[in-house]
Amino acid sequence: MDRQPLPLAPIQPYQPTPAVQAAIDAYARGLDACDPMQVGFAMTPVAMVVSDPTLPDCPLIYVNPAFERLTGFPAEEILGRNCRFMQGPLTDADDIVRLREAIAQRVPIELDLLNHRRDGTPFWNRLMVAPVFCDDGSLRYYVATQIDVTVERHRVLMLEQDREALAAEVAQRDADLAAHNARLRLALKAGGLGTWTLDLPEMVLTASSGCKRIFGRPLGEPFTYEQLLAAIHPDDLPMMRAAVERTITHGEPYHIEYRILTAAGDQRWVSIQGDLQHRADGTPLAMTGFSTDISTRKFAEEHRAVLARELTHRVKNTLATVNAVVSQTLRDAVSLEDAAAAVTGRIASLGAAQELLIQDEVEGASIGDIVDRALLPFKDRDGARFAAHGPSVRLTPEITLALAMALHELATNAIKYGALSVPEGRVAIEWSIRHEDGERRLFFCWAEHDGPPVTPPSRTGFGTRMIERVLRRHVRGGAAIHYPPTGVRFEIEAAV
Ligand SMILES: Cc1cc2nc3c(=O)[nH]c(=O)nc-3n(C[C@H](O)[C@H](O)[C@H](O)COP(=O)(O)O)c2cc1C
Repeated sequence: MDRQPLPLAPIQPYQPTPAVQAAIDAYARGLDACDPMQVGFAMTPVAMVVSDPTLPDCPLIYVNPAFERLTGFPAEEILGRNCRFMQGPLTDADDIVRLREAIAQRVPIELDLLNHRRDGTPFWNRLMVAPVFCDDGSLRYYVATQIDVTVERHRVLMLEQDREALAAEVAQRDADLAAHNARLRLALKAGGLGTWTLDLPEMVLTASSGCKRIFGRPLGEPFTYEQLLAAIHPDDLPMMRAAVERTITHGEPYHIEYRILTAAGDQRWVSIQGDLQHRADGTPLAMTGFSTDISTRKFAEEHRAVLARELTHRVKNTLATVNAVVSQTLRDAVSLEDAAAAVTGRIASLGAAQELLIQDEVEGASIGDIVDRALLPFKDRDGARFAAHGPSVRLTPEITLALAMALHELATNAIKYGALSVPEGRVAIEWSIRHEDGERRLFFCWAEHDGPPVTPPSRTGFGTRMIERVLRRHVRGGAAIHYPPTGVRFEIEAAV
């Protein structure tokens, strides 16, 4: 606190009234007569004063030497005055009211009051005022002690300021920590991560909401270690147990991927990473880490592996087909040009079928697309030569290839010798699905009409062989070409 002197109003010379002077003298006589209580007051190192409430304005009738030392006021200057002369403009007005009320009610009071010494310097006065009663119960004196508590108050003030600064710092750190935790939670959530701790050796699992979400567990319920073990795919459980064991016994980082089955019956892949925490004595305290759902990556990997296998299989099939096409076309060919044209057309039809398959990956292609694609090179400008009808049915890659090539052969023959060799000739292509004996059966028919009268071929060409051998094998049902005079008919009946 500022200990500079304050410009207090200088104390005015004062002449006590005769009654006051008489009271002062009477008290002094008691001291001269060695009244033990008064001698005690005079000797104590604590500042003490006595005032007489029976006189107007309760004047001081005694101040001890310790008071004179504390305040700098000599007794002769202040005896006979009320003790408010040490108050200044900074003295708390409420404290003065409290003092006044206690004195009026004749009850003791203690409070810290800002006072000034004779030289104007401020000090904190811990003032205790108490009434003294006569045996008959009448009020005789007020006795007060004054203790300078400036240093103590200053220390308390400093401590309070330190405490407030500390509290502000703690609050700031709490806020920083909360913000940090919120960011961490957000990052964990955005990354689809869950956190967990496994207390050792009791194997008590504590899982975050993110972790429970990954395992498909209810967020409001605990997720125990036993429930975790039960959720792991039985084939992966021994590997997981071994990894936990290795971490606990050898302190190896815990990093594994395993399959889980959620309560809802979904299979998921999870990746778990963790580390061992130790107690001060080096014994394992807990395993802690995070989990993440890697199902999308794992399923994509599985899908890629299936695709790679399928692609290898298809390339092999295609090469075998090309091999057969080339060798058989050469065998049937009447000239090299004829062979070259036939091979080119047949391989182009294979290519078209492959394109369809690539669009649809492993699932095969729909009949409508196969028909459109295979017959595209044979269509006239108004597209009237082919009429194709049927429901949307998907075929396996093998049947797709075989059917595309069969259609190519049929169309080539139709142009050379069949219905499409004359302008009014047409081909009706129809297919349907029927359910027979609990089985889905496909009926596919190629029927030429309005062409020249048909005569069955004298020898079996490539197309016929392909249809009869290859297609029939793949469709595991009927696949045959008929040659009625009205037009070539090709029919497939297959389980799909
Ligand atoms: C015995 C006695 C000692 C007192 N000592 C002090 C003191 O050291 N400093 C102070 O500011 N007031 C002291 N007071 C209080 C004032 O004298 C006065 O009672 C107070 O200011 C309230 O009254 P007022 O509103 O009439 O001023 C003392 C009062 C009594 C009865």
